[in-house]
Amino acid sequence: MLPGCLLLTGLLRSASTASSAPRMPKNMGSWDKFTSSSCYSHSNNASSKARLTAKEQLDPLALIKDEVSEVTDRLRSMVVAEVPELTSAAGYFFSAGAEGKRTCPTVLLLMASAISMKISDGLENRSRARHMRVAEITEMIHISSLIHDDVLDDADTRRGMDSLNFTVGKKLAVLAGDFLLFRAFSAAVSLDNTEVVSLLATAVNNLVTGELMQMSITPAQRCSMDYYLQKTYYKTAALISNSCKAIAVITGQTAEIQALAYQYGRHLGIAYQLIDDILDFTGTTASLGKASLSDIHQGIVTAPILFAMEEFPELCEIVEQGFDDPSNVEIALKYLSKSQGIEKTRLLAAEHAKLAADAIDGLPESEDQVILNSRQALKDLTQKFMRRTK
Ligand code: FPP
Ligand code: MG
Repeated sequence: MLPGCLLLTGLLRSASTASSAPRMPKNMGSWDKFTSSSCYSHSNNASSKARLTAKEQLDPLALIKDEVSEVTDRLRSMVVAEVPELTSAAGYFFSAGAEGKRTCPTVLLLMASAISMKISDGLENRSRARHMRVAEITEMIHISSLIHDDVLDDADTRRGMDSLNFTVGKKLAVLAGDFLLFRAFSAAVSLDNTEVVSLLATAVNNLVTGELMQMSITPAQRCSMDYYLQKTYYKTAALISNSCKAIAVITGQTAEIQALAYQYGRHLGIAYQLIDDILDFTGTTASLGKASLSDIHQGIVTAPILFAMEEFPELCEIVEQGFDDPSNVEIALKYLSKSQGIEKTRLLAAEHAKLAADAIDGLPESEDQVILNSRQALKDLTQKFMRRTK
């Protein structure tokens, strides 16, 4: 936690320099930053297990590493279109070095392992293949949403590289995003499970709704924590929560386990975003790979300011006016620095991280070591999110 005076100095310095600062690589994007490539894994693949050291075999992240790579490889081949320009645009974020941290596939494959049922080897392999399809579909929807988001935000960078719209223009970028959605839903239909298709459609609807809630926000809504949390769920948590549930549905799990899988994704996504909101105020440009204070400069009000407003209701008038006037940014930052806004946001994130871990603890008891390791990995991830600094 930053002492108040340091935070104030940092915030004011950032506020006054942000507009003249050189453009840095932008935020890598929701869900793109928090798992390392050598992380959570659980594979049925005997040859990949044989290559692992004894220590790695106990590490669920290492165990699913090969499967996550397989998902990435398949994604590259899934986005081939009739027109070569569309193929390269749609595959832009699946090419080597551009694929991000692949957090969605990681979480989903771990969830699949955490709730897996003891069935015959043949059935288990078939089931695992279907889990991997859900991971691929989710990743395509995620990338499609980021491509469209960059068009809407007129962003010129993503994942530390040129954004797709910057590289190929807005029109082709929009079509590439559309094409990815088409591919995602074609793959979903081939799973032959209408509930899974419906969950994924809900997630896309939520993404669009969240984006619109942010775009069309009224001055009064800008001061509402409830509105903010609903928008946050839609934009950042709806995809992973519905996909976690889809994993449980496709495994043939009970409604209770489906609900726990959903709750894990929901709370993990919200905790992630709350920490992101804090880092936008406390992180440095160098550590984040983006100009800090970018939310408030874009007029986006997040949890730290909303908590500060509860302590200082007069801040609401400034927030309602918006942040086109840079002096409003400075005033809001002054209030934030003398408030508990950052600390309260961290506490709220910790509550959500705990609720995510509680969902895992609510799963039926198991003595299977792979299942237990995967559950522990999912719980560890909640803490990893809490600790992240970029
Ligand atoms: C990042 O927002 C964007 C999202 C989490 C989702 C955006 C959703 C849409 C554009 C709706 C369309 C959806 C589909 C599936 C086509 P941000 O701008 O807050 O964060 P950033 O720093 O990553 O850009
Ligand atoms: Mg954006």
